[in-house]
Amino acid sequence: MGERLFQRFSLLSAGLWVGFALVLGGSVTYVVEQKMLERATLASLDYFKSLARFITTDQEFVRLKTGAEYGAFDRLIRENFSTTHAVTIKIYDRSGTTVYHSRNPEIVGRAFPDNAALQRAFRGETVIGFSDLRGSEHLTERQAGYSRLLEVYIPIFLEGTSTIIGAYEIYSPIDPFYQKVWPLRFSVWGAVFFGLALLYVALSLTFRRASRTIVGQNLALERSARELREAYEDLQRAQSQLVQSEKLASAGRLAAGMIHEIGNPLASVLGLLDLQLLCKGSAADRAECLDRTERLAGEIARLRGLLRGLLEYARPGPSEATVLDLNDVVEKSLLFVFSQRDFGTLTLRKTLAPELPPVLADESLLQQVLVNVLLNAGQASPPGGLVTVTTRAGNGAEAWRGDHAVGRVFQPGERTVTVAVSDAGPGIPREHLGRIFEPFFSTRGRGEGAGLGLAICHSIIELLRGALVVELAPGGGTTLRIVLPAAAPVPLAAGSARHD
Ligand SMILES: Nc1ncnc2c1ncn2[C@@H]1O[C@H](COP(=O)(O)OP(=O)(O)OP(=O)(O)O)[C@@H](O)[C@H]1O
Ligand SMILES: [Mg+2]
Repeated sequence: MGERLFQRFSLLSAGLWVGFALVLGGSVTYVVEQKMLERATLASLDYFKSLARFITTDQEFVRLKTGAEYGAFDRLIRENFSTTHAVTIKIYDRSGTTVYHSRNPEIVGRAFPDNAALQRAFRGETVIGFSDLRGSEHLTERQAGYSRLLEVYIPIFLEGTSTIIGAYEIYSPIDPFYQKVWPLRFSVWGAVFFGLALLYVALSLTFRRASRTIVGQNLALERSARELREAYEDLQRAQSQLVQSEKLASAGRLAAGMIHEIGNPLASVLGLLDLQLLCKGSAADRAECLDRTERLAGEIARLRGLLRGLLEYARPGPSEATVLDLNDVVEKSLLFVFSQRDFGTLTLRKTLAPELPPVLADESLLQQVLVNVLLNAGQASPPGGLVTVTTRAGNGAEAWRGDHAVGRVFQPGERTVTVAVSDAGPGIPREHLGRIFEPFFSTRGRGEGAGLGLAICHSIIELLRGALVVELAPGGGTTLRIVLPAAAPVPLAAGSARHD
């Protein structure tokens, strides 16, 4: 933008400067030429006057002469006016009749009574002017190659008196003058152009610097405006998060109510189910009954844990941390998730690392996180899709190797235990990555997802001092890693890797 402004200024001002230079140069040379011409003219006049003084002037002098008498007179004039400054010399008598013509004797005898300059000379004035040599009497001068001559009329006085008896008309060339003027013209034009060019360059440089400063200031202004806009957007985001928090607080209150209302009946159901364990019938029936009842009890217990977790999310309180083997928690969670009808078609591949360091955590909270992550993976997978679950011990580096993460920043070298859940679903659009941990953010249909799953996971993982890392596979598919700090440097009881 600055460059364009500068180019426009350069072009416009260059045009103006050239115009200005032409006008200035033209007027300066004209004035100087006129002054020089005036001086040259006056010098010529003085010169011709001094020449005329050497000729005796009586009545005979301005009388018409012919033949040898004219020849003698011609010689007299030539001797006295023999100079290259005089192109033509004419002499008139008092009536305006030409009595002598140095170039064209044929003019002799012709009268010019209407010649105003001649009449002024007869009144005693010395008249200077320029002749464009248009009249027929100037033919000889034109033939000699002249186009313009200096014309001087000098009155001729009767010697020793103030009586005017005639007048000289002398043509003098002005070409020598113009020859002298050329170098002067060059110097004037050169000085004008050089001076103006210098001024133009100086002005251009100043303008360029000024336009750059303006552009810089504009950029700074734009930057500030952008920063302000970003700050405003941040503020808007913070405000909407506040609104979400408020919603969450309401959700917490709701959850507290739900726990109260649902928790008690659930406790009775659990008591009744305990009685169910004493099933009657054949041994096979009893075994089946027992198995079903156990699963029922497990699910109801998880439900109660989930409700408790929701309450804790809204009002996080002290959790019951115990030393846990992550692989066990994974197994329990998988059992729950994959026993659901919707997940029956999925293929599960689990790789559980042996000798995993223990973690210190609340089991039901940790299970809640795992179940939510597994549910999301299952829900995102196509029918028959593969879900991979891997556990491993790490050193903190894997906690932040991904596309998005929440929770704690692990120090390099810090001992960690990780469970990664990968699916072959469509993946998460990058523009959603920053929002998936927000409460109530869900892309699943209305009534299908509350958008609380990962928000609860986030809240729990903060309690467990761990991290949740999302990693997107290039061709689609998502991996969600749950990273927890290892509880003790000593590994748990040795075990072998279990692959399915
Ligand atoms: N494995 C995944 N693949 C693709 N998208 C996912 C995955 N996990 C989470 N998401 C996205 O993150 C959103 C938020 O997940 P979250 O578990 O918090 O809520 P939800 O599953 O929609 O509902 P809820 O868990 O409360 O039933 C999901 O709606 C989905 O868009
Ligand atoms: Mg979910």
